[in-house]
Amino acid sequence: MIDAIYSIEIYRIYPLYPINKTTPMIDNKAIFNISYGLFVLVARQGDKDNACIINVAQQVTSDPLQLMICVNKQNLTHDMILRTLKFNLCPLSEEATMKPFQHFGFQSGKTVDKFAECETELRTENGLRYLPKFINSVISCVVTKSIDLGTHTMFIAMPMEARVLSDSPSITYAYYQQHIKPKPAAAPAAGGKKKWVCEVCGYVYEGDELPADFICPWCKHPASDFKLVE
Ligand SMILES: Cc1cc2nc3c(=O)[nH]c(=O)nc-3n(C[C@H](O)[C@H](O)[C@H](O)COP(=O)(O)O)c2cc1C
Repeated sequence: MIDAIYSIEIYRIYPLYPINKTTPMIDNKAIFNISYGLFVLVARQGDKDNACIINVAQQVTSDPLQLMICVNKQNLTHDMILRTLKFNLCPLSEEATMKPFQHFGFQSGKTVDKFAECETELRTENGLRYLPKFINSVISCVVTKSIDLGTHTMFIAMPMEARVLSDSPSITYAYYQQHIKPKPAAAPAAGGKKKWVCEVCGYVYEGDELPADFICPWCKHPASDFKLVE
């Protein structure tokens, strides 16, 4: 249904739009050249605190000051923000190790309490949590608009409180890939099976072939983000 809506809209604007991603007109490397930051996105609903990692977040206007985040509908954090219209956006800094990515980005608050072991309980005025380390700022926002993008919802929001916590520089996605994410093991899998590694989070798939519709169980990225380990 959603695909159908997109198709109608895009073809009305641009009848020749190459909707099939396999078209030679789309070089994914050009898309990967778009730069991103990385953030801990925090929500709270009732007594439940939760957070996930996102890379799609940006200031979009300065007067009035508005931010945009884009969150996968499968994430618990997505549903919590949709219901409460509040979130804290925390840019990850160069102090971050792999730990916050594994803890907040590779598991869901649907099955674990992600703040259970975080003894230092820091909260902004809106009652939402932020981390005592790994981040350089906390920005508390109220959602003013949401746009359904099919797999994701884009939230437009206005900051209500913003604090700098450290002068450590913010990291980019490229910095994460080069300095934080573990490099995949080079050895081939036992029993003649092949290995594919998710270039986003490092998850390794073993088998004879990587299914075309495979979705990374850690970071939810598709098969096109996997690379065969030679
Ligand atoms: C490096 C990295 C980047 C990510 N970027 C995004 C993103 O931009 N949007 C998103 O919805 N999820 C993103 N994720 C995935 C979520 O953080 C992940 O699915 C998380 O487990 C969701 O947790 P929750 O269900 O508790 O909300 C990213 C994960 C990693 C490790």
